[in-house]
Amino acid sequence: SSLCFWILVWISARVSKYSFGLSLQIPSPLNFLLLPGICLLNLSDASNAEPSVPVSKDNNPKTLLLVWGLKGRKPPDCWEYFRISGCTITGDRRRYNEADGVLMRHWDVVRDKEAPLPLEPRLPAQKWIWLNFESPTFSLRLWEYEGIYNLTLTFREDSDILAPYGSLIPNVLSDTFPQARFAHRLKSSSDPRPGFVAWVVSHWTDDLERVHFYNHLKEYIKIDIFGGAGTILPEGKGSVVKMIRQYRFYLAFENSQHTDYITEKLWNAVRGGAIPVVLGPSRKNYERFLPPEAFIHVDDFNTVQELAQYLLKVKDSPSLITMHLSWRKDYSLYFATWDEHYCTVCKVVRMRKGKIDVVKNLTAWFYS
Ligand SMILES: *[C@@H]1O[C@H](CO)[C@@H](O)[C@H](O)[C@H]1NC(C)=O
Ligand SMILES: *[C@@H]1O[C@H](CO)[C@@H](O)[C@H](O)[C@H]1NC(C)=O
Ligand SMILES: *[C@@H]1O[C@H](CO)[C@@H](O)[C@H](O)[C@H]1NC(C)=O
Repeated sequence: SSLCFWILVWISARVSKYSFGLSLQIPSPLNFLLLPGICLLNLSDASNAEPSVPVSKDNNPKTLLLVWGLKGRKPPDCWEYFRISGCTITGDRRRYNEADGVLMRHWDVVRDKEAPLPLEPRLPAQKWIWLNFESPTFSLRLWEYEGIYNLTLTFREDSDILAPYGSLIPNVLSDTFPQARFAHRLKSSSDPRPGFVAWVVSHWTDDLERVHFYNHLKEYIKIDIFGGAGTILPEGKGSVVKMIRQYRFYLAFENSQHTDYITEKLWNAVRGGAIPVVLGPSRKNYERFLPPEAFIHVDDFNTVQELAQYLLKVKDSPSLITMHLSWRKDYSLYFATWDEHYCTVCKVVRMRKGKIDVVKNLTAWFYS
């Protein structure tokens, strides 16, 4: 599915004035989905997604996005960082009645007892955007939020605004994606590594599938455990990736299995140059985000023992290691920031001015 990519190209063409400056140099077909950090897709009203319908560009140049949970943090300057003009981001709730869009993070509205949601009625043209990076299993009380939102921003590919945890940009396209400047170029080195298999886990519950799987796998191979449930890693961002750099394999086991729910666990492994062993959605689902040989899926094997045997085999086989790592030389890894999400949302709110968008069946959709 390269829909996302094409739509991004199309939208950029439509709103090139506000885009990151993507050109229309369309590359040869690629065998898996390219996610340029953030891209837009599946706007609820399909008829409006057709190129023949003009998006509002110039008649409403000023757009105000209220980020409901921004609190004291400094809002980004969308023009300075992302070349998105006319967008103002604010965290000031007193501006609710002038905002063109209000972005709510599910986690915040569920937990914030003082101001769970803005007061209705809202301005008729105002968009409410639902942001959620948690998996359905860990998203509380979804059903209380039915029928109120206009747009979605999640890790799901069929969100209105797609925000994956990480994404690969082919190096040949780095001129096409200005975000590539902020991406990490991957190295394909297959140099020896002292460690074999590592796993970082903080949330340990015996009924989780990943714990069950681990208990089984450790009967056959040695696994080094880090985090709350093992060797404590130093505080601070890079420490997980630094540890992963010492290992050949990293267990990227998600806390629950849902469509497109592929988190930083996978991308940390990629960043650290280990071969990810994944447990999460299906292999096919992972292949929408990275090349098929870039990871080992637990479902690739009939038994846990066969998986263990394969890991032992790869460990001692330079050719298999190369097979799993050589794709890396052609890609860079990109992580979008919160600021970029805010500015993208603002851009979408501006594009959808004058249109009605309704998120139907939030719970059923998010679980599907
Ligand atoms: C877009 O969303 C609708 C439902 O909202 C769904 O039926 C459709 O399959 C989605 N299309 C794509 C390309 O994801
Ligand atoms: C936003 O969603 C609400 C609730 O579904 C709906 O009543 C309203 O018309 C929508 N507004 C816009 C501008 O899309
Ligand atoms: C929402 O989902 C429920 C249950 O799955 C279904 O009965 C209902 O028809 C759906 N509504 C819409 C508008 O799709």
